[in-house]
Amino acid sequence: MKSCFTQYILCIGAGYVGGPTMAMIAHKCPQYRVTIVDINPERIAQWNSDRLPIYEPGLDEIVKAARGRNLFFSTDIEKGIQESDIIFVSVNTPTKTFGVGAGMAADLQYWEKTARQILESATSDKIIVEKSTLPVRTARAMERILFSTHNGVRFEVLSNPEFLAEGTAIQDLERPDRVLIGSRQTESGLKARSALAEIYANWVPQERILTTDIWSSELSKLVANAFLAQRISSINAIAALCEKTEADVSQVAKAVGMDPRIGPKFLNASVGFGGSCFKKDILNLVYICRYYGLNEVAKYWESVIEINEYQKSHFLITMLNAMFNTLAGKRIALFGFAFKADTGDTRESPAIYIAARLIEEQADLVITDPKALANAKADLKGIEGKVQFVEDPYEAATGSHAIAIMTEWRQFRELDYERIYRSMAKPAFIFDGRNIVDHSKLYRLGFNVYPIGKPALTHL
Ligand SMILES: NC(=O)c1ccc[n+]([C@@H]2O[C@H](COP(=O)([O-])OP(=O)(O)OC[C@H]3O[C@@H](n4cnc5c(N)ncnc54)[C@H](O)[C@@H]3O)[C@@H](O)[C@H]2O)c1
Repeated sequence: MKSCFTQYILCIGAGYVGGPTMAMIAHKCPQYRVTIVDINPERIAQWNSDRLPIYEPGLDEIVKAARGRNLFFSTDIEKGIQESDIIFVSVNTPTKTFGVGAGMAADLQYWEKTARQILESATSDKIIVEKSTLPVRTARAMERILFSTHNGVRFEVLSNPEFLAEGTAIQDLERPDRVLIGSRQTESGLKARSALAEIYANWVPQERILTTDIWSSELSKLVANAFLAQRISSINAIAALCEKTEADVSQVAKAVGMDPRIGPKFLNASVGFGGSCFKKDILNLVYICRYYGLNEVAKYWESVIEINEYQKSHFLITMLNAMFNTLAGKRIALFGFAFKADTGDTRESPAIYIAARLIEEQADLVITDPKALANAKADLKGIEGKVQFVEDPYEAATGSHAIAIMTEWRQFRELDYERIYRSMAKPAFIFDGRNIVDHSKLYRLGFNVYPIGKPALTHL
């Protein structure tokens, strides 16, 4: 019974992308019935509860307003497929950990299982939308699977990569820079493209809906992430040079970024980028380049990851050197564990690496984060060592020899550092992995301050 809804939309994969994107469609389009399914029943139960499985500013409000009205979370994938006209697929596509391409290629097993399940369950024509980030030419593989039987059901595959950034997902979805839709240039491909564009046209201005051929769309997402990560690695590489030459990376970034050809965004030096996407998508790009014999191109992009790895280990070495080359038995407070502010996501967070290395050095760790403690516990499970997790940053700092700022949470800028300084072991150190606190002020309070890409301010 399709009753009052004009369109039935399904999303397979209730993760960081599937949840917020579908919540936004349901919020903007009350005329559509939007269902999100997942193989993970716990995740679905959380989406149906008062405590959503992910933290995103503004997400709770739109989910709670639409849930049960035109937004539904379910584990019944088969029913969802049968009922829907358009199926978004936003399952995870992590880096492959085994076999050919291990450590580089995208692991497409979840993606392929989804394609097979759609094929098995579908009883009417469907538009399949690739929301996950996929290697260029995946749509061809999808088509091969979907066209492998002749039961009369027709599928059209579109590429519609998601450009939201965690932490600002709701505002990115509400006012996207662009919505990219790639399709086959056939009559049915163009028709499917119009049907998808019509959904977004409910709130996205026409000029921001960009249509391309399907391969350009798939590739654009990998390239966008590679370019973003490249900017971070570029400024981080310069930060290392600034530390040697007593230049200040923030001033260099400002001077450089005022050139409109360069622009000021994404030029903050830091302990390194994290998140589930940048590293895996660049590795995937590198793998694809190698596959096509483009070894120099592959090497170029690989260096973006190498600088990021360097940046993390450089941060650790700075800590070690500053603290008299021994961290054993010292209490170190990690301020933040999420890979960026305003999310609880810790996937590929530099904090994981720093925590593991500090534990190796036999430091006693105390970790505080406003939203990521549960994920931090899971990330460090199985690592032998002394680790505590506390909600309150003041408690975390008390008795510590050092604070290392891992995440640019606004809360950490606004703390009473005088009180914190008083509570710490002396000499007290602060390593600002995000350059977010007032370094001169902290120095005046008595801290030995180690920013990124700027001269250290020390009393020693
Ligand atoms: N996280 C981001 O910021 C972001 C942004 C843009 C694009 N992407 C891309 O979107 C995709 C999803 O990313 P994510 O962060 O939402 O991942 P995620 O791990 O949070 O969510 C994926 C979900 O898919 C489910 N799933 C896996 N196989 C399934 C199957 N066969 N049937 C039903 N459900 C299944 C998993 O249980 C999981 O809940 C990835 O390709 C990613 O690269 C992510």
